[in-house]
Amino acid sequence: MIRIFAAIAAAFLGVLFLAYMLTDSTQAVQHGFRGTSMTVMYKPAAVEALKPLNAIPDPEDPADPPIIGQPTITERYKNIQVLKDLSVNELSRVMAAFVTWVAPEEGCVYCHNTKNMASDEKYTKVAARRMLQMTRTINNEWTQHVGSTGVTCWTCHRGQHVPSGDWFAQPQQHVRMLGNRDGQDQAGVATVGNSSLPNDPLTTYLTRPDDNIRVQGTRPLAGANPTSVKKAEHTYGLMIYMAQSLGVNCDYCHNTRALARWEQSSPQRITAWYGIRMVRSLNINYLIPLQPIWPDYRLSAEGDGPKLACATCHKGAYKPLYGVSMKGDWPEFWRRGGVDTSNEVRTLPENHPLPDPQLVKIGLPEGETGYAPEPVPPEEE
Ligand code: HEC
Ligand code: HEC
Ligand code: HEC
Ligand code: HEC
Repeated sequence: MIRIFAAIAAAFLGVLFLAYMLTDSTQAVQHGFRGTSMTVMYKPAAVEALKPLNAIPDPEDPADPPIIGQPTITERYKNIQVLKDLSVNELSRVMAAFVTWVAPEEGCVYCHNTKNMASDEKYTKVAARRMLQMTRTINNEWTQHVGSTGVTCWTCHRGQHVPSGDWFAQPQQHVRMLGNRDGQDQAGVATVGNSSLPNDPLTTYLTRPDDNIRVQGTRPLAGANPTSVKKAEHTYGLMIYMAQSLGVNCDYCHNTRALARWEQSSPQRITAWYGIRMVRSLNINYLIPLQPIWPDYRLSAEGDGPKLACATCHKGAYKPLYGVSMKGDWPEFWRRGGVDTSNEVRTLPENHPLPDPQLVKIGLPEGETGYAPEPVPPEEE
């Protein structure tokens, strides 16, 4: 009798398991050339589960055009520094959006002293103004990364004061007799996927103006090789972070049999290359200079201010909001007032190899190494 019951139970569990496998089976989409194993794998249920996070709130009604004789925005208001290219009606619309996107519970008072709207006494208003400049700079100056899709406050904030995916520098570790551990072998560091790699590749690679992210040397002798084991570890740490932030595997960007080769990489790797430069520039020009205005409770235990990176926009999706643009409803965030056009690295270095459109090029042109050219650094630590 017991055996019969056990057999029925086992069959039942088997059917359940099969049903689970069928409904939540991993899908694979080939995205590189045949034979390169460049395949995007995903679970439909996981994509489905991320849908609510990637929804976009209904837009405000379009602003009425200004009526004749209506004052301009700077005639009407006292302290407009960025949004001078809006009409008075458009300003109200943008302010309503700020509430929905950043402070839905508090409303206007989150940034304003409602007795004196022009006042900058709340740090949140000062931060919001700088964020506004940052958003317009991203949309106008970083199109190599964000395309015409672009971003709004919603892309990062999604109805929260503090967007998910912000990060802080990891505390410096004491240098012991056997040297600096460099943040390695720590349990539970999500940034590097719980691996034993150095815990802070983001500070290493996403807060300084230019630093090639390299593992493979391009010169024969060790003495002349600017890469090192340490660089390799930080590079892998960053790569794990990037892949996690986008919810993809390494082969979304690389042909993993030749990680360094650009002509065998997917076009997405070029987008990511610009993304790295964009994130550095945003941290250097916006988030780090904002540090003095944050109240203590916004800082890390060591007093470091928040910074952004891939996950702040992407939040586990290959494109933020699955690539849906808010530009049509919110052209205000694509205007150029307050845009920062300073001289950051915005173009690939000359001769930088590009992915082959078909990923099938056999043999490289004369003089082409397949590696990004890299400056010879004075010395390596
Ligand atoms: C997330 C922060 C934030 C929220 C929330 C917010 N504002 Fe603002 N507001 C700003 C910023 C920043 C400026 C200045 C823009 C500039 O300098 O171009 C501003 C400017 C203004 C001004 C112009 C004041 C002047 O005389 O210079 C008015 C009026 C205003 N907001 C109304 C509102 C109203 C009404 C709400 C609620 C529906 C609201 N704001 C919600 C950040 C915010
Ligand atoms: C690329 C991502 C990104 C975009 C786009 C963005 N922000 Fe932010 N914002 C951040 C980060 C990161 C912080 C710091 C969060 C922290 O304290 O950890 C922040 C902080 C703020 C704060 C301070 C909140 C607080 O309670 O301390 C305000 C206000 C704000 N943003 C408003 C805006 C507005 C308004 C827009 C659109 C014009 C915007 N942000 C667009 C990333 C972004
Ligand atoms: C979203 C695209 C993307 C993903 C996903 C990605 N990489 Fe990268 N990888 C890049 C880019 C871009 C560079 C070059 C960075 C630079 O030059 O600034 C790079 C560089 C590298 C390098 C250095 C190559 C050299 O020239 O020495 C290695 C190694 C590497 N990645 C490994 C990985 C591994 C392992 C994974 C998965 C854990 C991964 N990558 C995931 C985009 C990506
Ligand atoms: C300011 C927000 C923002 C940040 C920060 C950001 N991205 Fe993106 N990223 C976007 C947007 C928006 C798109 C969609 C562009 C489009 O539709 O053409 C995108 C697209 C991409 C794509 C192309 C995906 C595809 O399938 O075509 C890759 C790869 C990518 N990002 C990698 C990264 C990496 C790696 C980082 C961190 C170093 C990063 N992004 C940081 C906003 C951001």
